[in-house]
Amino acid sequence: MSDLDKYKRFTVTSALPYANGPLHIGHLAGAYIPADIFVRHMRLKRKDIVYICGSDEHGAAITIKAKKEGITPKEIIDKYHTQIKKSFEEFGIAFDIYHRTSSQIHHELSQKFFLNLYNKGEFLEKESEQYYDEEYDQFLADRYIIGTCPNCNNEGAYGDQCEKCGTSLNPMDLINPKSTLSGKAPVLRVTKHWYLPLDKYQPWLEEWLIEGKKNKWKSNVYGQCSSWLKAGLQPRSMTRDLDWGIDVPLEEAKGKKLYVWLDAPIGYISATKQWAQENGKDWELYWKKQADENDESCLVHFIGKDNIVFHCITFPSILHAHGEYILPQNVPANEFLNLEGDKLSTSRNHAVWLHEYLEEFPGKQDELRYVLTSILPETSDSEFTWKDYQARVNNELVAILGNFINRVMILMHKYYEGKIEGNTQLNDKDLKSQIGVIYDEVEQSIEGYKFRQALSSVIDLARLGNRYLTENEPWKIFKTEPEKTRLVLQNSLHIIAHLGTLLQSLLPGASKKIFSMLNLDKEVVFYDEEIVFKDGHQLNQAQLLFEKVEDEVIEKQLEKLSRKAEENIAVVEVAPAKENISFDAFASMDIRVGTILEAENVAKTKKLLKLKIDTGIDQRIVVSGIAEYFEPEAIIGKQVSILVNLEPREIKGILSQGMILMAENCDGKLSFVAPPENISNGSVVR
Ligand code: 2FM
Ligand code: ZN
Repeated sequence: MSDLDKYKRFTVTSALPYANGPLHIGHLAGAYIPADIFVRHMRLKRKDIVYICGSDEHGAAITIKAKKEGITPKEIIDKYHTQIKKSFEEFGIAFDIYHRTSSQIHHELSQKFFLNLYNKGEFLEKESEQYYDEEYDQFLADRYIIGTCPNCNNEGAYGDQCEKCGTSLNPMDLINPKSTLSGKAPVLRVTKHWYLPLDKYQPWLEEWLIEGKKNKWKSNVYGQCSSWLKAGLQPRSMTRDLDWGIDVPLEEAKGKKLYVWLDAPIGYISATKQWAQENGKDWELYWKKQADENDESCLVHFIGKDNIVFHCITFPSILHAHGEYILPQNVPANEFLNLEGDKLSTSRNHAVWLHEYLEEFPGKQDELRYVLTSILPETSDSEFTWKDYQARVNNELVAILGNFINRVMILMHKYYEGKIEGNTQLNDKDLKSQIGVIYDEVEQSIEGYKFRQALSSVIDLARLGNRYLTENEPWKIFKTEPEKTRLVLQNSLHIIAHLGTLLQSLLPGASKKIFSMLNLDKEVVFYDEEIVFKDGHQLNQAQLLFEKVEDEVIEKQLEKLSRKAEENIAVVEVAPAKENISFDAFASMDIRVGTILEAENVAKTKKLLKLKIDTGIDQRIVVSGIAEYFEPEAIIGKQVSILVNLEPREIKGILSQGMILMAENCDGKLSFVAPPENISNGSVVR
């Protein structure tokens, strides 16, 4: 018995992927394989369950990609929605519906949700100053502003984060902010937005989540939520000044859109509505509170760890404020999957892309599903390597599971032409009870969101089969003990049928092949069905379940990854070109050759050196951020180029008069821009 047994209806969601790029193995391991196993398992228990997903098609993620590819946001979402949907289908994720947030039904429902909260007076209306691009006549989403990171001086930091040092930022933190649209400095303009008062819901969240979910939710999820609540929640804006998204349904909010993180989770509900319309169901049974609490659906969200706060704090607060909806019973989020010792990265192209895998490994969905399930980042980050893929397929799928099934099938055909005879029940008490234990383990593991354990229990059943064969050696006793030989092989067929049953959720492709070999061609075998072979039942020919992965295949994939990394270095090694400037703008800079006379570290900083420079015009102090690359003593006497007419600035209490010119490569390595041979101080650089 698990906590879930009391529910007869389930609403299961997997995070809606942004339709701005293809899927990779990190997505699968985070939110799709676990959910798919869970859903298939519950279907085998005859539970009423709906499994919802779709494309997340709003927000800056989409418009930025559109700009990069030089096409419209609509073209981007159409392109990637089609590709993602196809990959999911081919891989075998069994959604009941894969919908999209650009649909009308979704726009309408999201606006209705907003208005429901608005009419209740839930939102806090607030005016604030935000960056605005005057040339493009629009407010700038955080990602549309770049500038210098106040933490590490990276000049390409985004308004929400510096990708070099990882600091999370507000647009206002950036030094020298620039709009990525016009390249110009943005101005501040006042704008009004509608905020969800998360601070007001904090006491309710403490009770519902902190008290109610303790020891029930996974510790990685619970821990992250507790630290958010401990830090104290702040109101969060639910509207944006953007031109792509769902219109805020208020006269005074013309031109504004709903925040993508308001509409995306509502996408789960609108998709359910669409599915219900198409299938003659009542969507409200899956989402709304019922007069009889025992009749409510069990809502489970499968997500990756970067989505925890939105699914555990923001969305439940919205549902709670609305009042008519059920809340998630669980949010079994996974951590991250890494690849070959490095973080998966779309922008660096460090990934195993699902559509490429499907093309290069046709018919090998279960191999990838097996490996990813074995290494799911359930409690901490985990790692995919191609060598491990090869080892798991060869040593586990081929050598344990495939080998057992193959041996039995071959012997049945060799000795009896594949025909079952006589007593067709499983006739071994020990085997029966061991199989029973494995069913319990699988059920408990899946319902406790421990999918790695569930898979390992099923492989244990195959191990048990192999041991049973080895102990009884039917190939040795065929001549001397014909009856026992038949019994051992037919008992083994029962083990195979149980493997087929249990693998329906874990490796659905292999399960299908098993039932087809057994000539038991049912769409589903529910857990509570007894498997019976009729006297005279004819088996089909054996098929190879899994093939050994050869070294060349793995080497090819590794080469492909390192090729991508090299291409990537070639791309990032050059900083993006800046816009043209006039000759006058250049000529206005007074750059001279000077000599470093003195150099010392600036107290309490790691990066700064205080330099005294002879510029030929005078001797002056310049503060320079080069301390991590140069020892002060080593650069005394060195000639450098210095911009002498830069407005003096105070840095750490020192007046810095000018700037030393440095060349910097993409890894941040610095070198002085200096004349190749000495020339008199004060010489002009032009
Ligand atoms: O992080 C993401 O990829 C988001 N598109 C997930 C959205 S999940 C949900 F709320 F729709
Ligand atoms: Zn930084």
